Amino acid sequence: MNPAQAPVRRPELRTALPGPRSAEVLRRDRAALATCYTRPFPLVPDRGQGVWLSDLDGNTFLDFMAGIAVSTTGYHHPHVAAAIADQVGRFLHICLTDYAQEGTTQLAERLLAHLPGDRYRAFFGNSGAEAVEAAIKLARHHTGRPYLISTLGSFHGRTYGAVSLTGSKANYRRGFGPLLSGVVHVPYPNPFRPPLGSNPESCGRAVLDYLERELFPTVLPPDEVAAILVEPMQGEGGYIVPPSDFLPGLRALCDRYGILLILDEVQTGMGRSGKMFAFEHDQIQPDMVTLAKGIASGLPLSAMLARERLMTWPEGSHGSTFGGNPVAVAAASATLDLLEGGALHPGLGTSLIDNARIQGEWMLAELRRLAADFPAVGQVRGRGLFLGIEFVSADGAEDPAVRDRFAEAAFRLGLLTLPCGYSSLRISPPLILNRQEAEVGLELIAAALRAVS
Ligand SMILES: Cc1ncc(COP(=O)(O)O)c(C=O)c1O
Repeated sequence: MNPAQAPVRRPELRTALPGPRSAEVLRRDRAALATCYTRPFPLVPDRGQGVWLSDLDGNTFLDFMAGIAVSTTGYHHPHVAAAIADQVGRFLHICLTDYAQEGTTQLAERLLAHLPGDRYRAFFGNSGAEAVEAAIKLARHHTGRPYLISTLGSFHGRTYGAVSLTGSKANYRRGFGPLLSGVVHVPYPNPFRPPLGSNPESCGRAVLDYLERELFPTVLPPDEVAAILVEPMQGEGGYIVPPSDFLPGLRALCDRYGILLILDEVQTGMGRSGKMFAFEHDQIQPDMVTLAKGIASGLPLSAMLARERLMTWPEGSHGSTFGGNPVAVAAASATLDLLEGGALHPGLGTSLIDNARIQGEWMLAELRRLAADFPAVGQVRGRGLFLGIEFVSADGAEDPAVRDRFAEAAFRLGLLTLPCGYSSLRISPPLILNRQEAEVGLELIAAALRAVS
């Protein structure tokens, strides 16, 4: 049946939340698991289908967060599941450090074909943090320079190297020092909260000027900077889109000083922004790109892509036992089929990248229309299915409390969303979202806004 004619599916909440089976697991979970897990919502998933996630008590939620922008193809895509099953039937593991593997070679070739203008090579890991570790190690190794620049509000992972570059929460660092030395954070150009006395239009240039006119002549010799690591749109920091002159300006600045530009596309990449990589919106060429999250529809896989001329580290100098696992790689290849449109998701008739753009443009316009009726919404922004809502109080100041109440209200209505940044909320559904599901999500967002207004 054409989904347009199918009955409209809505969240189904059968019990109070959490239901009894979920509550029991949550109680045991609190006793058995490490204390670092946050558990913002009392949801214990049991099964997923498309953009719908059901808990142990049979409550079904519409998912607008996709396991933090991971479940690109939904929870159980038949094309991805078949590719996984096929690989499981052949072999589960081979260490990429020792043996080449046809599927991984093919995946590397396919990913590299999406990069513009130069030859690149791929390194595979298991998580976003591992891709970031690989990038900063390669940057230092290749340039022989010690310093690394990152941005405030950024998230790059929690391993020691990655967390040293992460700049979003003091909680990630408190008690863990000393971290990696030689890391300097500069503001991210957030047009909603322009840094350095700038305004929404000038904030990109203000950050570049700060680097070049303030830091480079005083405390950070640019000829000793190996790389700048930056998210093309900030994820954890608040789903922020920088002004369009920022990334081209940063590319030019890197070129002037021989600094490598590493774009962390762990959250923004793999079609989420309506293009394969978010940097394509600004038509720049990175020196390295890090990918993870949506790359394999939920199986653990990451990639660090670097220009061929930078891949100068010697054999054995870096590696990973599980990185590039063949089952995860099979899932990634099937995910790419759907992203590129070589295999079509039933009922959509487009590639998932085009779908992210089409549904995202529609949702952005609808959310902006909705925002006009709700003063608690200070701004709606984003690209593709990477959408951020900024919450403010009556006097226009950022309001994390109302954002948190909104996320809670949405959850109680059966819609999964996730806070990010100081007072914003991310909307990052699976890229298979169809218009009907987007409409249901918007109705629930409107209902949650009414509940907190
Ligand atoms: C931009 C970015 N980089 C890196 C990471 C770290 O990824 P992982 O949690 O897989 O280590 C994240 C995770 O949220 C991210 O959003």
